[in-house]
Amino acid sequence: MKMTPAIVIIGSIMAFWASMSVMVIMPAITLKVEPSEIWRPMTAEEQEGYRLYVRNGCSYCHSQFIRVMDWDLGAERIAQAGDYVDRGPDLMGSKRTGPDLSQEGGEHPDDWHLAHFTNPRNTSPISVMPSFAFLGADSIRKLTAFVQFEGMLMADQRVERQRHWKEAALQTYGKDLDSHVQWLHAMVPEVWRPMPNPYPALEADLARGRKIYQQFCIGCHGPVGDGRGQAAGFLNPMPLNFTVLRRHLVDNRYIGGLLYYQIMNGITGTAMPYFKKSLESEKIWDVANYLAVSFIGYSDANIEPTGIDASYEPRWQNRFQAPDGQGLSDERDSVGR
Ligand code: HEC
Ligand code: HEC
Repeated sequence: MKMTPAIVIIGSIMAFWASMSVMVIMPAITLKVEPSEIWRPMTAEEQEGYRLYVRNGCSYCHSQFIRVMDWDLGAERIAQAGDYVDRGPDLMGSKRTGPDLSQEGGEHPDDWHLAHFTNPRNTSPISVMPSFAFLGADSIRKLTAFVQFEGMLMADQRVERQRHWKEAALQTYGKDLDSHVQWLHAMVPEVWRPMPNPYPALEADLARGRKIYQQFCIGCHGPVGDGRGQAAGFLNPMPLNFTVLRRHLVDNRYIGGLLYYQIMNGITGTAMPYFKKSLESEKIWDVANYLAVSFIGYSDANIEPTGIDASYEPRWQNRFQAPDGQGLSDERDSVGR
């Protein structure tokens, strides 16, 4: 057969529609996906937030699905086809410059999102996410409603938990700071409170802690730890002023375990995020030591009870005295016995 222009054009149109019908039209007619057990429809406000998500190119940086091998935000649940019923267009996304958002709902309270959308550097000092302040307060509220919906019925439970603890926190926060801090500490499990920081507070450790503080904490707690970072004006309760903790050492000695627990777990209901997924154990202890030394003026690093030092740790002297002046200097011999 001779290749005439007409045959080439008709042939390519036929090939196009053949593949369209196999790959797009037939699946659309025959594939009926049932809603998954966590699915629920969007409210009108969430729907508008979703439109803003589509229009503003959020999916260039954020995905909307979690795979078996994932380990980060929302990895407790693998995404399923039934999660996407009634959602169009599906913006799965192929890039994760930022975290996957399919289980974002209830990860943070609304005040965190307001500070973050206004300027992501408020809450996350080294974020590359653009500011969305130009959208205005109304659109930021809708975007927040949509991200709080992400995860559907699972997210609703988390959002409810945030509300519950915010209410509880605001009860004492409204009175005076000391009773609020006492309440915060009473919520920390008993075993964590009389636990000293097991890492020494040497120059290298403190320098590491400082770097972590600057990359993760400074936007809220501020450069001098007084809780007046650039996010503070958006948040209620405001970030804690660490100098207050001078008055709240456990048994007049311990602060390390308490700080560790709060940093690891965050304080649900407040903007204080958990760091157990983003910082490994040594980094949490190091930033706790940095806080203690720089802002509280006292560290319980490695005081009794101690165990066997990790093999790489250099011999050191505890330079930080207990507030009662009794001295907690480490008097081990050259091999650390
Ligand atoms: C240039 C890439 C980029 C774009 C575009 C972008 N983000 Fe982000 N986003 C990030 C990065 C990186 C992070 C992690 C650091 C941080 O918290 O800001 C992040 C974090 C987030 C978080 C917090 C996740 C958490 O719990 O830690 C939310 C919610 C979010 N983005 C929503 C959005 C929405 C909604 C849009 C569109 C309006 C958007 N992002 C656009 C890069 C981006
Ligand atoms: C998005 C803001 C935000 C960021 C980021 C943040 N915090 Fe907080 N943090 C808070 C708020 C708000 C509170 C106080 C909650 C309250 O008073 O109920 C708090 C409380 C705390 C407490 C509780 C102290 C106590 O005695 O119970 C510790 C410790 C703490 N933050 C350490 C950190 C560290 C370390 C980082 C960085 C790794 C950090 N925070 C990052 C907002 C933040």
